[in-house]
Amino acid sequence: MYMTEKINELKRKRNAVILAHNYTRGEVQDIADFTGDSLELARVAAGVDSSVIVFCGVYFMAETAAILNPGKTVLTPDPEAGCPMADMITAEQLRELKSKHPGAVCVCYVNSTAEVKAECDICVTSGNAERVMATIPAGREIIFVPDRHLGSYVSGREGRKYELWPGYCPTHAAITAAAIAKAKALHPGAPVMVHPECPADVRAAADECLSTGGMCAFAKRSGAAEIIVGTETGILHRLAKENPGKKFFPVSDRIVCPNMKKTTLEKVLSCLENMEYRVTVPENIASGARKAIDAMLSIT
Ligand code: 13P
Ligand code: SF4
Repeated sequence: MYMTEKINELKRKRNAVILAHNYTRGEVQDIADFTGDSLELARVAAGVDSSVIVFCGVYFMAETAAILNPGKTVLTPDPEAGCPMADMITAEQLRELKSKHPGAVCVCYVNSTAEVKAECDICVTSGNAERVMATIPAGREIIFVPDRHLGSYVSGREGRKYELWPGYCPTHAAITAAAIAKAKALHPGAPVMVHPECPADVRAAADECLSTGGMCAFAKRSGAAEIIVGTETGILHRLAKENPGKKFFPVSDRIVCPNMKKTTLEKVLSCLENMEYRVTVPENIASGARKAIDAMLSIT
């Protein structure tokens, strides 16, 4: 039996739903019930009927699904698929930062551990950061962790200062303004879309700064026949699939998140066969993290 058929059969047997991030391998996106960005996946995870969620992405995403679904079984095909940016701040470091800024509103990018989320008032994703930050009253001091690039992007858009943590995404940090200029020269007239995790000079060289879900929406509505893509290359699979008449060019084909590529079809099958690896968050941490995630979901 083909791998896909085996996965689909087991999925029915286990009453499971497969969720995949836009950066996962094309073949994983193709067997998923839903593929999307962090915000879309959190929303879907919050509303699924199935008793089992197989989360193909990185660990903090599966953890978010587990926090939102305490009664369900959340599985990751590879528990080693982490996000280095999420690990750039610990709850202890955040508590120390908070102690230096008493009264500040504490905001975390969803790319963070459950322990860090539990220390925060509200979460953001790259898809809703501007909308969420706009709800924080003027005059309030703001701590923003862990991504200094997303933080500086939204802070610049809002025209107010945040206390930023120096975290970053190693994959997006490898995108340079020089590479954007080269791609533009190769594809004159093609709009450039980049992710807000890119450094400021890269964002300034682009036409659009969007979450991965925002990029998929822009690609559909844009009249451009060619688009330059400044983010992890896994998204090219979905862009090409949804827009057969258009061409997409990566700024560089070396922009790959090794953790997003850890999930293979073999691991998804084994995950459903053996019902592992289970993602759980202790309720004393999950309850605090849930408040921060729910605060975000209630806004957007
Ligand atoms: P999105 O929420 O835009 O999908 O981004 C998630 C991520 O990890 C980007 O590196
Ligand atoms: Fe984390 Fe960057 Fe990979 Fe996204 S692309 S999961 S931020 S390391």
